[in-house]
Parts: sequence; structure tokens; C-alpha cells
Amino acid sequence: MDHWREKIESARSLAELEEIRVAIFGKKGELAQAFARLKSLPPEEKPRIAKELNELKGDLTRLFESKKEALQREALQKRLEAEAIDVSLYSPRPVGGALHPVMHTMDRIIDYFASLNFAVENGPLVEDEFHNFEALNLPDYHPARDMQDTFYFKDGKLLRTHTSPVQIRTMMRQKPPIRMISPGAVFRRDFDLTHTPQFHQVEGLVVDEAGKVSFTHLKWILEDFLSTMFGDVAVRFRPSFFPFTEPSAEVDISCIFCGGEGCRVCSQTGWLEVLGCGMVDPNVFKAVGYENVSGYAFGLGVERFAMLLHRIPDLRSLFEGDLRLLEQFQ
Ligand code: DAH
Repeated sequence: MDHWREKIESARSLAELEEIRVAIFGKKGELAQAFARLKSLPPEEKPRIAKELNELKGDLTRLFESKKEALQREALQKRLEAEAIDVSLYSPRPVGGALHPVMHTMDRIIDYFASLNFAVENGPLVEDEFHNFEALNLPDYHPARDMQDTFYFKDGKLLRTHTSPVQIRTMMRQKPPIRMISPGAVFRRDFDLTHTPQFHQVEGLVVDEAGKVSFTHLKWILEDFLSTMFGDVAVRFRPSFFPFTEPSAEVDISCIFCGGEGCRVCSQTGWLEVLGCGMVDPNVFKAVGYENVSGYAFGLGVERFAMLLHRIPDLRSLFEGDLRLLEQFQ
């Protein structure tokens, strides 16, 4: 029955082959009909014809299976070709984002204090006078409270002028011992070569039972912190004044541009001021209801650290978002 072979071989798709399978091998297909006709044959012919039919069925089945396999392979090949991706096609290189140098510097500062178990606290950018000034021993005649220096809202609230109010919020929320830093944005009515209306600070505060926290601890941690940040620099504590600390100090490092010889950046002094600090003023503890405690605090400007670490001469370049500068910090 050559026409069956031809039929199978002529199939051009799996669907066509399936139709052929039904026509030949199906319940009512041609093979079934041929077997049915055996009944009407003379008995002496039956065995021979039946044998032939069975052999034919076996041949056709093998042929069908190999045709099916070939068609499947062909179909797969076609699909692979259709779905192929040309990996040699040109694609523009994605431009990776990067942390802004100010944020990167902030992260380095946070990493240092976090490694010494300082908690990181946050406070609101819109503050009230109590947290921003009063509780920090800045009385209402203090010049920092002037409209000239501070952004006030109509309801008497203000954009915080420093991160120190987070000290107050943390002390009022929990009991000593306290060991915290507070990084974040601050705002002042200031705009010139070395001042922008918004910048960033990191505040630090450590409080424990009276006598447990001394200026020695403060000096040690700031010296260690500054040498971690700036490497091999000299550190100098200069007596100063802040309303919220007593005694207070400003901290200088030897100029990293001239090594202390004196240059334009350090105004020929050989020193760069980087921090304010001191022992927490008793009036601050009184304002938050703490008794029999001692503590130290410090505050620093992150932009200043970033400028020194990356030798960026102009503060404004940290705010302009100029990609030519920012791309250098990938
Ligand atoms: N709040 C001060 C400022 O904005 C920085 C500062 C100085 C914070 C001394 C302190 C400190 O906690 O002890 O200039």
C-alpha cells in the first residue's frame, strides 16, 4: 500500500501528519477497515493476508514515528530561529548612578559612629522654637533667633537651623544612657561663597550617670574619628562658646592642603576648623528633666567634610548638580 507511505512522507507539518494518522491508524481509519475486510476472505487466505497487514502496520508505524520526529525537530529549529537574540547588536552602555559626595561623606561619618554603637536618630525639618532654641539654652534674645538668620513660618514654627534639636527630642523620649548621632539637612538665611541656605550636619550626643562621661572621652572619640576620616592629621581643641555646652571647644585639624605650613585655604594659619563640641550644659539637662547625669555633644557640617575629603574648592559646586563634577564620584 504505497499510497499510505507516500501520504505519510508528504506531510509538511505536525498538524497535517495528525490528520494522516487519524485517516490511517484511527478507529475508522483505512487500516481498521482493511482488518475488518479479513472477515469476508476465504479461510485459507486469511492467515497470509492478516500477516501481511500486520507487517504493513508495523512498517507504517515506524515510518510515522520517524516522520513525526523529523517534523518536531524542524518545528523546534524554526522556533529557535524566530526567537534568536543577536547578542552582537549595539546597545548603549547604561549610565550608573552614584551617591552624591555629600551623602557619601555622611555615610562614612555614620559608619564610624555606628561601629561604636551610636544609634542614628532623626528629627523633623520643621521644628518649634522650644526644641531648636529654648531647650538648647538659646534664650530669646540670642541673635540666631533673628528673622535674619532663620526661616520662620507664620505659625511660629521654623526650618531647623541645626541638628541639635534631635538631642532634645531623643533625651525627652528615652532615659540615659544615650549614645546617638543625628545626620540631616539644616537651613539658614545665608547665601554667599561659603554659605548655602540648606546644608547638612551630623550631631552627636552621649549621656550617662554623673561622672561617667568626661571631656577626656569626648577628646578621645573626636581624635579617633578625625584620624579615621582624614588620616594622619594633627588635632587641636580650641576653647570656644556654644549656649548648649559648657565648657565648649572648636576642633581644628592641621591643614590637609599645606600640611600645616600655611596656605590660602587655611588663611595661612595651618589649621582648618571642622567641629564644635563640649560638655552638655546643665541648663539643657534641666530643660529635658534629667538629673545627676553628665554628657558630651558635638556637631559638624557634612559639606565641609566633603570639600576637604575630595579637595573641592567651591562649596556651591556641591549644590549645582553639575554632572561633570558628579560623574567623577561614580
Ligand atoms: N549646633 C551647632 C551649629 O549648628 C554645632 C554644635 C556645636 C553642636 C557644638 C553641638 C556642639 O552639639 O556641642 O553650629
